[in-house]
Amino acid sequence: MASARGEFSSRFGFIMAAAGSAVGLGNIWGFPTQAASNGGAAFLLVYLLLAFTLAYPALMAEIIIGRHAHANAVNALQRIAGGPVTRRLGATTGLVGLVVASFILSFYAIVAGWMIAHCLGSLAALVGADGIAAWLTFFSLGRNASFVVVFMLLTIGIIAEGVHDGIERWSSRLMPILLVTLGCLVLYVLTLDGAMEGLKVYLLPDFSAALSPQLIINALGSAFFSLSLGVGTMLIYGSYINDRENLPVVGGLVTGVDIGIAVLAGFLVLPAMYVALHNGVEIFDAAGGLISEDTLIFTVLPELFTSMGVAGAFVSLLFFFLMSIAALTSSISMLEVPVAYTIEEHGASRRSAVLLIGGIITAISLLILLNFETLFGLVVTATTRYSQPLLGFVFCIYAGWIWRRDQLLEELRKGSPEIAGTLFWRIWPWHVRLVCPLIIFGIFAQNLFG
Ligand code: TRP
Repeated sequence: MASARGEFSSRFGFIMAAAGSAVGLGNIWGFPTQAASNGGAAFLLVYLLLAFTLAYPALMAEIIIGRHAHANAVNALQRIAGGPVTRRLGATTGLVGLVVASFILSFYAIVAGWMIAHCLGSLAALVGADGIAAWLTFFSLGRNASFVVVFMLLTIGIIAEGVHDGIERWSSRLMPILLVTLGCLVLYVLTLDGAMEGLKVYLLPDFSAALSPQLIINALGSAFFSLSLGVGTMLIYGSYINDRENLPVVGGLVTGVDIGIAVLAGFLVLPAMYVALHNGVEIFDAAGGLISEDTLIFTVLPELFTSMGVAGAFVSLLFFFLMSIAALTSSISMLEVPVAYTIEEHGASRRSAVLLIGGIITAISLLILLNFETLFGLVVTATTRYSQPLLGFVFCIYAGWIWRRDQLLEELRKGSPEIAGTLFWRIWPWHVRLVCPLIIFGIFAQNLFG
């Protein structure tokens, strides 16, 4: 049955796919700027701590449940439930998760479209097509809508090919390219004047800034978004892992790659900002903090690239290419969530499920674009700040309280016969039972009332 519904062919394939999902705009753009404005290396330490004490255990909960059921989240949560109430709650959680995944994709595709447009814009500038370059890099409804459609077509094209020929093949191709591109950019930027200043800001720890409760909560939220948790993405990828795989190890590798790339991206973005400062570009906002988010990506960095002359055009091309790849390997993991459900629970063919759902999500993206001021921020907040932690909470409750402990152990034993004697088995079940729900509840309460 497992192979009939698709399976990753190797450990490498799974790790590339899951790391591809995890490594996205959040890592390359969110993490470095947050670290920069929040105590540098001290933030990094807090982030590392949270990633391994909260995000990794929550990731394991999703992967184990998914692999056990070899099914989508709706089916999987029902299957591990003991009674009628928990079955119904499980099905509802799975359904809400797939709706949230679809909405996350609808805003993610907009941002990803900007990345592709800027990538092509740099190319146009390089060949001297200045008019086209201007259209591609200028914020307009026509450009935004066109590139949402382009990006969604790429996502749909990959997901239509299925688990092995689509997700695994493309993630295994794109992730190494991403790593090499990122590595080249880091090496190049570090040679420029001003880069060392940025490195200092990134690496000198300021513990007073990193230990504030608000900051810990932010770091927690980013770790959660960064590992694609709560909406069933990692559950469905877990469901495509074969039974012989050692889950705690592969989960650890995915977490490691995700964090590693975020940290590496810090060696690019921070030095780049101080190179920009050196070249006369403003990098601080009115409050004196480093400029971040969209202003950084679409204003500060392009100004930096312009100030670098011809080399700048190449660097710009590479940078936005990197962002586009990172976005694509993440977006496919979001689309797979509703698609897998539609195939498995409603007997649709993959092709028609992908076209239907991909079409609906594209329509939602266009609707958001038409009402950008009101809808964009709303969708981002509703999905990532509220829905994700709440759903993650329920996943941990299912893994920690509802699923029978002996069945859980049985599942882990399949790929790691010695699991009962390991540190993982001594710590994780309690952790996912008590610590994770409490921490997530804390974030959620803070988001709601803080
Ligand atoms: N983790 C990705 C990033 O850092 C985004 C992502 C992919 C995601 N799939 C997800 C976020 C599912 C939430 C839920 O950019």
